[in-house]
Amino acid sequence: MTDENIGVLFDAETISERVAALGREIARNEPSDLLVVVILKGSFVFAADLIRAIENAGTSARVDFITLSSYGAGTESSGTVTLTHDLSEDVEGQSILIVDDILESGRTIAFARDTLLARKARDVKTCLLLDKPEKRVIDIEADYLGFEIGDRFVVGYGLDLASRYRGLPYIGVVQPV
Ligand code: IMP
Ligand code: MG
Repeated sequence: MTDENIGVLFDAETISERVAALGREIARNEPSDLLVVVILKGSFVFAADLIRAIENAGTSARVDFITLSSYGAGTESSGTVTLTHDLSEDVEGQSILIVDDILESGRTIAFARDTLLARKARDVKTCLLLDKPEKRVIDIEADYLGFEIGDRFVVGYGLDLASRYRGLPYIGVVQPV
């Protein structure tokens, strides 16, 4: 298996510099009792680097995971968000930073935010690695953002195409063969 049909959009060094800057911004602006809620699966690589960047910048955040799914096996979102694995902690009264890979229609992040607010979280912020503003359906923006991109399907650094390419160290675009 090669990645010969994938063009590099953001290389590992560019990603790492951006993530370090996000970590500093989050540590500066968010409370020290922050709970980071990672939306699986797509953001696990980003989240692993981000929590180390936050720690490195002086905030020792707690981490929990939730699995939401809106894509089937293809490159178009199904439109409905399903919760397939819930958090292990009660979030009432907590300051939360939701971490996800891509903000597209906004359905996933809106669903996560609304779920946490309904459970009486004190504050809910969002940190997204990528934003595709052209695809927005719900009016929601990231509080912290890595990079804005056009309407292209990307893989790598945790992002998949039908479960493949999550391990690529860069973010790339699948090119038509
Ligand atoms: P939204 O709910 O439409 O905002 O879509 C967000 C979710 O769709 C993200 O959490 C990703 O898992 C997935 N997604 C959107 N665009 C891409 C892409 O280009 N590559 C891989 N996954 C994507
Ligand atoms: Mg996802």
